[in-house]
Amino acid sequence: MSTLQPASERAVGIDAPLLEVRNLVVRYGKKGPAAVDDVSFTIARGETLGLVGESGSGKTTIGRAILGLQTVTSGQILFEGRDITKARAAERRSLQGDLRAVFQDPFSSLNPRRPIGDALTEPLRVAGVPRTEREQRAREVLDAVGLAPGSETRFPRQFSGGQRQRISIARALVTDPRLVVCDEAVSALDLSTQAQVLNLLADLRAGTDLGYLFIAHDMAVVEFLAQRVVVLNRGRIVEQGRTGEVMRNPQHHYTRVLMAASPVPDPDEQARRREAWRALKASAAAPAA
Ligand SMILES: Nc1ncnc2c1ncn2[C@@H]1O[C@H](COP(=O)(O)OP(=O)(O)O)[C@@H](O)[C@H]1O
Ligand SMILES: [Mg+2]
Repeated sequence: MSTLQPASERAVGIDAPLLEVRNLVVRYGKKGPAAVDDVSFTIARGETLGLVGESGSGKTTIGRAILGLQTVTSGQILFEGRDITKARAAERRSLQGDLRAVFQDPFSSLNPRRPIGDALTEPLRVAGVPRTEREQRAREVLDAVGLAPGSETRFPRQFSGGQRQRISIARALVTDPRLVVCDEAVSALDLSTQAQVLNLLADLRAGTDLGYLFIAHDMAVVEFLAQRVVVLNRGRIVEQGRTGEVMRNPQHHYTRVLMAASPVPDPDEQARRREAWRALKASAAAPAA
């Protein structure tokens, strides 16, 4: 390939998707099936892509590979056109502000002995942001996720599960990232808290070009937030498309099974759940007060 590229090709990074995953394969150990097998998808700027599949289908492995926490067997991961598949520590550090994560259990990633303000300012300290600026920014993001002024001096145990998840969202956003990988970010929350946190995630991206890779085993949760969805079964993509179309007209049997599995078995609980989702969608569709 020529080193002298026409301008139209050199500019490709600018037009490149926010994230591109190409033929990703991840194998744990030398034998056995690949946990992730030839997975390809893209995320555009400002887009939310849902990644859905039952437990063990490879969702977390994909998220970890993107975040540089899992070695890739083969394939490529490109962030804004730049190949980060094998990014070394220094390059990963340079990505830290742009590419962030929210996990299922915020308690495990918050130091119980430190006020939560520390967790919020830490990524900024690493980036060399001066102290008064990072404290100011921490207060801003806490406000953005709906936590009271002064929260930064309190400790993780002083918050509820939903509040702690707001804190981890604040920590993800404090660096003003381009992409946030949310891995089962609302799965541990009760239904009404789930709805609040999903609405918060939707509010935070509104009017920005923030992208999410939104990983969940629950189709209903993905349907609420994601414009497009990738359905994963045993490490392979079985279906992908616009969320509404996939939900209305699933092409693959496994997708139908997942959709059927999304509600809970108890019919009363299922009815409550359906009602809650209807209300959630209605509230999100309504113009902001
Ligand atoms: N650290 C690991 N070592 C070996 N196998 C693993 C490891 N992590 C995940 N796996 C296996 O990889 C597959 C995909 O797991 P995972 O990515 O966690 O799926 P999901 O997030 O969809 O539940 C599963 O079969 C799981 O047992
Ligand atoms: Mg997982």
